[in-house]
Amino acid sequence: MKFPLNIPSISKLEKRYVKDAIDTNWLSINGKNTQIFEKKFSNLINRKFSLAVQSGTAALHLALKSLDVKKNDNVIVPDYTCVSNLSAVSQCGANAIMVDLENDTLGLDYDKIKLAIKKFKPKVLQLVHVYGFPARDTYKIIHLCKKNNVKVIEDASESLGAMIGKKKIGSLGDLSVFSIRSEKMIGVGEGGVISTNKLNIFSKLKLIASRNSPFRSKKDPYWKKYYVLGEGYNYLMPHLLGSIARAQVERFNNEILKKKIKVGMYYRKIFKNKNFEFTQKILKNHKPVFWLNSIFFKNLSASKVQKIGEELMKHGIEVRSGFWPLHKLKNFSLKKTSSKNSNIIFEKTLVLPSSYNLKENDVKYIYLKVSEFFDKYK
Ligand SMILES: Cc1ncc(COP(=O)(O)O)c(C=O)c1O
Repeated sequence: MKFPLNIPSISKLEKRYVKDAIDTNWLSINGKNTQIFEKKFSNLINRKFSLAVQSGTAALHLALKSLDVKKNDNVIVPDYTCVSNLSAVSQCGANAIMVDLENDTLGLDYDKIKLAIKKFKPKVLQLVHVYGFPARDTYKIIHLCKKNNVKVIEDASESLGAMIGKKKIGSLGDLSVFSIRSEKMIGVGEGGVISTNKLNIFSKLKLIASRNSPFRSKKDPYWKKYYVLGEGYNYLMPHLLGSIARAQVERFNNEILKKKIKVGMYYRKIFKNKNFEFTQKILKNHKPVFWLNSIFFKNLSASKVQKIGEELMKHGIEVRSGFWPLHKLKNFSLKKTSSKNSNIIFEKTLVLPSSYNLKENDVKYIYLKVSEFFDKYK
């Protein structure tokens, strides 16, 4: 592809830390670079504790487990997000209550959450910030959840670095989770992070992510090492990936984030066409990070949008459709509520190349091609 959807930014620093890890002959969990990464990541998002794990999906699963989500519990999941949000609930044996999106930022619809809380009495709500944009009603949703004793897992996988006012996205829920797979705001291949301010939750997370084995420190007698408290997981991040993560977090504010925002601003400047609009708005007081830039074809049918997407792919411009509304997926234990908006956004959205290294002229070229194929298929 001439313009891939989103490539990672790798520098000499990542190579240096990976080499350090190899030179010290430590590839496993609890590596020095991983520990440094966890501290720096916590500072980045203003949280007390962070744990590096093997994927965003693992982070979600752990977050739910740490909140004791189990069979027959209800969890509110956005209808428009990565399938991992649903899979993690299913892995706990719980029911997912699918809630529709709002049309400004593609976050959860506040009024529909209110109805869902009343009807389903959920234990947890997953608040996802989509494509780098803080969810419109973040504070209202958190307040509503507090009032109703619903815990909030903030999923900032797509929005590391985004802010509302002076507050960092990912610092607001009871827990927050991040995917750091290669095409995210920072990426290590496959990886995730889970953060919280609460020591009791953090200790629980760390225990379940380490096979539920409480006697793993150097101070414990060697013969206690294989004793476990019950079902656990092997989710901690190995040192080679932790080394890449350390470099990524060190380069984030001054390099990676600035470049991503610059690309987002090119899109906002160049894509001015009454035939399509941005799928997401920049709201007052919100600072999005433009993880992905997407456009919405209000007046085209789904099949015409697909034709434009196929042409762009043929011409080396990699695109993605909107997320499949999760309520459409089979074989999950889920309960549907209204899903009008997620269906429309799925059918009429194209996600465009958003790599950190795109130049203004690249975005102009992408714009010309989108306009050309719109005219061809409208
Ligand atoms: C919002 C969101 N949550 C969770 C995940 C799952 O993360 P991972 O792919 O690292 O398992 C993703 C996508 O990767 C995501 O976009």
